[in-house]
Order: sequence, then structure tokens, then C-alpha cells
Amino acid sequence: METIAEQDIITLKKVLRDSGGYDFSNYSTKSFVRRMEKILYDYKMDIYTLINTLKLDNELLERVVKDITVNTTEIFRDPAVWQAIKYRLLPKYHSQKEINVWHAGCSIGMEVYSFEILLCELGLFEKTNIYATDLNTDVLATAEKGVYSYRNASEFLDNYTKALCVNPFNYEERISLPISKYMDFDEKKDLLKIKPFLLNKAKFKKHNLVSESNPFNVKYDIIFCRNVLIYFDQYLQNKLYGDFWDCLAENGTLVLGIHESILGAMSAKYEKKGLMYQKKG
Ligand SMILES: C[S@@+](CC[C@H](N)C(=O)[O-])C[C@H]1O[C@@H](n2cnc3c(N)ncnc32)[C@H](O)[C@@H]1O
Repeated sequence: METIAEQDIITLKKVLRDSGGYDFSNYSTKSFVRRMEKILYDYKMDIYTLINTLKLDNELLERVVKDITVNTTEIFRDPAVWQAIKYRLLPKYHSQKEINVWHAGCSIGMEVYSFEILLCELGLFEKTNIYATDLNTDVLATAEKGVYSYRNASEFLDNYTKALCVNPFNYEERISLPISKYMDFDEKKDLLKIKPFLLNKAKFKKHNLVSESNPFNVKYDIIFCRNVLIYFDQYLQNKLYGDFWDCLAENGTLVLGIHESILGAMSAKYEKKGLMYQKKG
């Protein structure tokens, strides 16, 4: 793969910003360069051709932006987090009339449907409003359909069992909950389909965390932003921790990825509660 000079990365980011309005200046350089190298290889272009074409070809620019973002996700990714949400976070909402939740950087929606399943199990589904956003419109289209490849189903099944059927506070308790309650499988056609009653619950919307403010103008009780900020530099991470603080309701909770944490000055604005961060007043 072609290695890219630092100056070309700067030019490339400038073109993406000036021609497309996408500001990648505070994305982690390592991850950005790795993605660009792959893009050049896949598109069979050198860096100069790509930069010059991007200035004229908006369709290509949109495609490149989608290829820069990493969309890896899973059903019940990191089950320990879901156990904490189930046993530590959600019970306090039983007495609240309405719950607002935002999945920021939702990718193809597996995190959204995992949460919906958990809400169903706890009897909180009806009173919860779910909002989900991503920069990439392709992943949002898949999220809305809730149709995935069956190939990784065994991995997901394992996550599902750990997240929903095991009580980490009482390992003797085993909950029986067939995944077929929430998903249909067609091994031959390589399809995993989320059941229709879970679709149309979440409002999906294109939204850029770097340049746009609160996408639905409500205060959220819970914000999920998992495995998104890991691709941003420290400056941008801190800016977003501030933005999320503004968007959270009183005592609201921010759920990050297991390799992400709030450091420095912003950590004073949140109380770390296990794997989650609660907004301080
Ligand atoms: C690795 S996925 C994480 C998906 C899910 N939250 C999870 O943890 O499984 C990161 C997502 O963040 C999105 N993303 C990256 N930059 C973004 C931005 N500036 N604004 C909104 N979404 C962004 C990507 O398109 C991608 O779908």
C-alpha cells in the first residue's frame, strides 16, 4: 500500500472540509492514515489523483467519507456493559414517565436493537424514545431495515446469552430467553432479521458529531457513544464530552466503549460509575 506524506494528509483533510463540509482535522492521525491507505489501494488511485478528483466529484467525496469511518459493531457488544445497564442503570427508570435515549455513532443499528431488547425484557420499551445518529447514510439505511448477515450469528448468540441470560451478581441464576423471540434466522440465505415489532421504534438521522449540535433537541437520560471517540484526538474527545454533558438530562448517563474514558478537566463533570459516566450537576 502507498505510504502518504504528512503534507498530503493535511491537503486531503482541507479538501474534505472545503468541498464537503467534513472536518477530520481532529481525527486520530494513525487511524485516518490507515483508512486513507486502504482507500487508495481499493480505488487504485495515487494520492494526487484522489485529492484533485475529490475537488470536482462530490459523489466520490461522499463515498470516501463513508470509507474513512469504521463501522464495526456487534449485537450486545461487550456483554459486561449490557449487564451493568440491565442491573445498575435501567432499574432506576421504572418510576420515570418517559425515557429519552440517544445512540450517537450507531453504525448499522446492532447497538440500538440490543438496547431495545433489553428494554423489552425490563418492561421499559413502550415509554422509551430512541434516537440514533451516524455520519454515514449507508449504515443508517441498514440500521433502519434491521437485516444482517447470518454468518456472525454464533458470536452474537454468545454475546446475547452472556448479556441477558447470566446474572453477574448471582451466577446460579440462569435466565432462559431464546434469541428467536427477537430475531429470525435464515442460514441458507445468510440472513439475520430483527423482528418487525422492534423496527420503526428508533428515529434514525444523519448527524455529524464534529460539526452539529444536539440532533433532536431533547435532553437525553442516556447517551450511548461507544467506540466512536476512540478515532478522535484528545481535543475533540473533550469537546464532545462537553457537548454530551449539555445534552444530558439531570443525572443522565453517558455510556462509552470499554477502551474509552474521560480524562483531564472534563472528568470533573462526570461521576464514573463502573463502566458508565453519570452527569454531575
Ligand atoms: C465503530 S462504529 C461504533 C458502532 C457502535 N456504537 C458500537 O459500539 O458497536 C463507529 C461509528 O461512528 C460513526 N462516526 C464516525 N465519525 C462520526 C462523526 N463525526 N459523527 C457521527 N458519527 C460518526 C461511524 O460512521 C461508525 O458508524
